[in-house]
Amino acid sequence: MKTKIQEIITTILRKTEIYKTGQSKESRKQKGQFFSSLAIAQFMANQLAAPELTEVSILDPGAGNGLLGFMALAKCLEWKTAKSISLTYIENDPEVLPILQWLKIEVENCLSTTEVKIQVHILQDNFILKSFADKRFDILISNPPFVKIARKSAEAAAMSEYVFGQPNMYALFSLKGLSLLKSDAQFVLITPRSWTSGNYFVRMREYVAENVSIEKIHLFDSRDRVFSDEDVLQETMIWTGRIAEQKRSITVSISKNDQFADVTTFSGNSSMLLSDNPDKNIFLPSSYQDYCLLAKMREQKNTFDSLGYIFKTGPVVEFRCKNALSKQKRDNYIPMLRPSNIQKGGFCFPLDIGKAQYVDVQNNPAFVIPNTPTVLVRRLSAKEEPRRLQCCAYRPIPDENNISVENHVNYLIRKDGKPISEEEMYWACNLLTSDQYECYFRMLSGSTQVNARELNMLPVEGRL
Ligand SMILES: C[S@@+](CC[C@H](N)C(=O)[O-])C[C@H]1O[C@@H](n2cnc3c(N)ncnc32)[C@H](O)[C@@H]1O
Repeated sequence: MKTKIQEIITTILRKTEIYKTGQSKESRKQKGQFFSSLAIAQFMANQLAAPELTEVSILDPGAGNGLLGFMALAKCLEWKTAKSISLTYIENDPEVLPILQWLKIEVENCLSTTEVKIQVHILQDNFILKSFADKRFDILISNPPFVKIARKSAEAAAMSEYVFGQPNMYALFSLKGLSLLKSDAQFVLITPRSWTSGNYFVRMREYVAENVSIEKIHLFDSRDRVFSDEDVLQETMIWTGRIAEQKRSITVSISKNDQFADVTTFSGNSSMLLSDNPDKNIFLPSSYQDYCLLAKMREQKNTFDSLGYIFKTGPVVEFRCKNALSKQKRDNYIPMLRPSNIQKGGFCFPLDIGKAQYVDVQNNPAFVIPNTPTVLVRRLSAKEEPRRLQCCAYRPIPDENNISVENHVNYLIRKDGKPISEEEMYWACNLLTSDQYECYFRMLSGSTQVNARELNMLPVEGRL
């Protein structure tokens, strides 16, 4: 049996390579078709625990070459507990289907025995649009397509209760897959990390918080070493759990890449890793040391918000007010602070950058901000930049009563309307430029965006 399983794996991989040579990377990218390596598929199947069931049903949506579902099936055979196993593949790309059809025949003919009956079902369908009536599964294993979809697409419309802002197929796949599981069923998913924070995925996190017990999280040190053959530049995670009430501990593991040669593991408290605030953020520490920092910082009950401060996002959206912008100072125009004014932790203005640095406020009174000390934080950092929190202290530009701020910059004010003192400015700026906050922020957010909302909820020890 072991030899036959090995033979099937080798053939799947060989057929996949042949299939890939007949496809352009661009067309596979559009389908969200990136194949899991054997090491990833093995690792994912190894996350599953033997269910105490004699009949096991496995679901692999977005099956591609079928390797993930097959590895879960091989695991079930190894456990020797099941008398019947059904494996359901769902795939909507007709071009990859011949691999699944070959696999079905091979599995049913060569692995089914008198002790274990195996059935493979292939559904050539759109997973999101397909109705499963009351069919439910015991195991979900999936590498869903990582593709952004239009808000008006049929898939987004079908799952509109989970769509907020820009939808991504992987989130809809994960949610639909989870919703098709029986109580206490297991799942293992490889997805981008982006769903663990930010506004767009808040409904996904709510669903997970209400229905799922996350038991294991695996993270990769390096963004580009996961789908290494596939040029996928996404920070990915493998998360495993059950349809059950959240357990108290979560096993976190980390490896450098998808070869899993150097896995380090620690056990974290779920109440530390899963926040119970309305955003339901999930923290992803990439070492035990980071986890300890997380635990220490999450003990702080204050936030910028609770201490009377608030980060706001600059009001000037340039493409909406092109005629109100100027590169030179003019009457009724005030300085407009933009991300490039924040340079290596300092503030530089004006700059020779060929972009507008002044804005007309006579016709745009909503742009006016008093010219007082503040802290400026870039809303976006480039992936290669060493720090996510790119910020600086802003000491007022001389001879100006007011300033404005472009929309890619967050700035700090006091909620009581009083100006921020220089002392407060340096206090807030020092916090945000510290290694501790940088590390905390990276655990909180997998994306390069720094939203005012996340800044406002950062734990802060206390006022000055
Ligand atoms: C990231 S690939 C994963 C393939 C395979 N499971 C693996 O791990 O190597 C996602 C697969 O989902 C398929 N897919 C994309 N959209 C789909 C949809 N709406 N319904 C079903 N399958 C879909 C793609 O054709 C692709 O084969």
